[in-house]
Amino acid sequence: MSLPAKKEFWQAVALSADVGRKPWRVLLDGAPIVLFRSSTGISALFDRCAHRLVELSTGKIIQGEIECPYHGWRFDGDGRCTAIPGHVGEMPHYRVRRYHAIERDGVVFVAVGTPSGEPYLHCMQGKDVIVRRVRSSTQSTVIDAAENILDATHTHFTHKGLLRGLSAKRHLVRVEVTGGEGWVEACYTGEERQQGLISRLLEGERTKTIGRFRYPGIAELEYWGKGGLVLATTFHLRQADERTVEGVGWLIGQRQGGFGHLKALAFKPLFNIALGQDRRVLKSASDNALFPPQVLPAIGPLDFLRRDISAIMDGKMPSAATEPSVHQIEL
Ligand code: FES
Ligand SMILES: [Fe+2]
Repeated sequence: MSLPAKKEFWQAVALSADVGRKPWRVLLDGAPIVLFRSSTGISALFDRCAHRLVELSTGKIIQGEIECPYHGWRFDGDGRCTAIPGHVGEMPHYRVRRYHAIERDGVVFVAVGTPSGEPYLHCMQGKDVIVRRVRSSTQSTVIDAAENILDATHTHFTHKGLLRGLSAKRHLVRVEVTGGEGWVEACYTGEERQQGLISRLLEGERTKTIGRFRYPGIAELEYWGKGGLVLATTFHLRQADERTVEGVGWLIGQRQGGFGHLKALAFKPLFNIALGQDRRVLKSASDNALFPPQVLPAIGPLDFLRRDISAIMDGKMPSAATEPSVHQIEL
């Protein structure tokens, strides 16, 4: 497989709005990173003062440099120490690690290595759509959180009434699983309009639903109607620390005059309710997994994407790339 290593990828770590006049701390694969606005734009440094290792993110930004709250050492956007208050004479050289950082469409991206090219943003990138940006955190792993977003079968239980109706009625649905280097998707057709609150408020007739995973940790959902895309979401997931997944993403709606904006406004709070419901089950699974004996979760007959998500995360080609499959399920 010729995809570059994960460290060479831009990873979404924060919303631009998070990084204002104060520094903002994020965790990326267990590493603390401080984001701040320096004289050269957005900067990302290892969040640890070179002197006594205090969190720089608890300090202040002064003229585009970050000042440690302990003895006031200052670091510029490249991580170079520029001031040691009280010191007379030539400045000794100290520095903290700097990461590549950029902002695109209201989101801050950081790369651990040297990224090439532009970050992937969302599934409707470049189209005339309405977007809302969201950030959330869940006690889980990237694979469990990604699978949760893409899993159509939990909605009847976890999101009863919100994404699905209250009745137990199901419909025969066709699922087509395809994939390629760094991605796998499931496309659901034949579904009747969903009876949950979100669908009734925001959707007309649905023609297809697509759930897609992209390397290294991107989960996206697309709801298509007769007139094209209705709603979509792209979530960039990353392991913050061992037990916490953070997601930064976009909620995307079709532009339909003022109505589109109203829908987009309604989508976010409803989406947040769904997120809370998912957070509860994921935390339950994460806590419960710790009890001995250690077991692997079962991959059931409807878990079409799990093995391929895990292959993609390991940098391998998903099996759906060479063997696309079609299934019938009741949804
Ligand atoms: S610990 Fe940061 S200045 Fe001393
Ligand atoms: Fe869910």
